[in-house]
Amino acid sequence: MTAVGIDAIEIWTGNLKLDLPGTFAPEKGEDPEKYTKGLGLTASSFPDSYEDIVTMAANAAHRLMERKGLEPEDIGRIDVATESAFDNSKPVSTYVAGCLETVYDGDFHHANKGERKFACIAGTQSLDDAYNWIRAGRNRGRGALVIATDTALYARGDAGEATQGAGAVAMYIAEDPDLVELSAEQGYGSADETDFLKPNQQFPSVDGKRSVQVYLARMREALEDYESVAGDVHPDDIVFAPFHTPFPGMVRKAAMLAYRHITRDTAIEDELAEEIGRQPRPEAFDTDDAYRDALREYMDALKGTARYQEWYDATIDPTLTLSREVGNWYTGSVHVARVSALKTALEAGRDLTGEQLLVGSYGSGAQAEIHAETIQDGWEDEIAALNVDEQLANRYDMSWDDYEEIHDAHNHDMDVDVEEFTTPSEEFVFDGWGRMGERK
Ligand code: HMG
Repeated sequence: MTAVGIDAIEIWTGNLKLDLPGTFAPEKGEDPEKYTKGLGLTASSFPDSYEDIVTMAANAAHRLMERKGLEPEDIGRIDVATESAFDNSKPVSTYVAGCLETVYDGDFHHANKGERKFACIAGTQSLDDAYNWIRAGRNRGRGALVIATDTALYARGDAGEATQGAGAVAMYIAEDPDLVELSAEQGYGSADETDFLKPNQQFPSVDGKRSVQVYLARMREALEDYESVAGDVHPDDIVFAPFHTPFPGMVRKAAMLAYRHITRDTAIEDELAEEIGRQPRPEAFDTDDAYRDALREYMDALKGTARYQEWYDATIDPTLTLSREVGNWYTGSVHVARVSALKTALEAGRDLTGEQLLVGSYGSGAQAEIHAETIQDGWEDEIAALNVDEQLANRYDMSWDDYEEIHDAHNHDMDVDVEEFTTPSEEFVFDGWGRMGERK
C-alpha cells in the first residue's frame, strides 16, 4: 500500500511577542517562575494589527507552495482548521484561496474547500480527512493543503491569558510523503464536556483546572482505544511523542500518564500504596477528587526516578522547545510539537528515518486522538528548510501598553486605532474587509 502522510510543513508565527517573565509577570504581580517553571512558557506569539487567521494561513501556505514548487492545480483540497473563524457561512479556506490566487497564474476552482471545527483537535481531523480522501482514490493524483490557524486569545485577567498565542501551520498531504507517513490505526477518547467553549463570543469561557483533568481523561481513553487496534505501545517503539501543548506544563502531566500506561509500571504505585494505605489509581484523573493528592504524590515520586526522567528527556522534552517560545496555537499546537522534536533531532545530527512518533491530539469539548507516524527519508531536508528560528527572533517585543492596545484591537474595539508595530514585507496583510488578500 502506498504511503500517505505529510509531505511538507511550514510555520508562520504572529509577528509580535509578549515576554511572560519580563513583561507579563511584573504587571500581574506574579513570580516569573510561575510562567517559566510552572506553565513552562517564556513568551507568546501575537498577531500584529495587519494579521489575522487568514493572513497567517495564506502566508504559511504560500511559503510551503513556493518551497515545494506546488501550483494550484497540484492541490485538490484545502481544509482550514480553526476555532477563531469570523464567518459562520464562508469557510476560511475560501479567503485563503483568494489570497493565494492573487500570486499564482492558476486557480483553485476545482479544489474542494472546507473548514474543520473541533477546538484544537480540528487540525489533526483535517489531516485524517485528507488521508481518507487520498486513500479512497478520489484525489486524481493531487494532494491536500491542510492549514491550522488560530489567534488563541483570552479575556484580559482570565487565567488562560498567560497561555495565549497566534500562528498558522500549513501541511501538504500526499502519497509518498517526504516527512511522515500516517498510521491507518487511530484511537479516540470523546465525551460531551463544557470546560472550554466559545458560543458566539470572542474569548473562551474556561474552567481551567477542570480542562486539565478532561484533557488527561480523554487522552488516556484514546491511548487505550489506540492500543485496542494497533497493539500495545512500548516506550522503546517511539522516538518522540508530540502531544497537544496548550502550555508545556500540561504535557508534563500527560507524559506521566502516557509513561505509566505504556510501561505498565506499577512499582511506584505499590510503594505509595503502602505509605498512604490505598492505591493512588492514576486512572482516576477525571472523576475522583479524593485521589488528587495521592495522584500528586504519585507524580512527584515518578518524576524523581531516573528511568522516567531519562524517557521524558529523550521522548517528550524535545517536543516542547518551540511551544515555550510561542504559547498555545490551538489547532496548530500539536503540529508545532512535531516540528519542534524533529528540529531538535536534526540539530543533534540524528538519523530518524523509519522511527515512530506517537502523536496525541486534543480538542476541548472534548476529544483526544492517538495515532502513529513513521518518519520518512526526506525529513531532514524538510525540517532544514524551515526558517522558524529567524521568524521567532524577528518578532517585535511588546511593552505592556503595546500589548493592551493590540489586545483591544483584536477584540474588535473600533475605537482603538492601533499602528503597526512591525513593517510587513512580502506577506499577505489584512487591510479591512474590502482589501483582504493584497500583498505589500
Ligand atoms: P493558574 O490557575 O493561574 O495557574 O492557571 P496555577 O496556579 O495552576 O499554576 C500553574 C502551575 O505553575 C502549577 O503547576 C503551579 O504549581 C506552578 P502544577 O501544580 O499544575 O504542576 N507554579 C509555580 N511554579 C514555580 N514557581 C512558582 C509557581 N507558581 C505556580 N512561583 C490554568 C493554570 C491551566 C488554569 C490556566 O493557564 C488556564 O486556564 N489555561 C487555559 C486552559 C488550558 O490551557 N487548559 C489546558 C487543557 S485544555 C486544552 O488543552 C485545550 C485548549 O488548548 C483549547 C482547545 O482545545 O480548543 C485550551
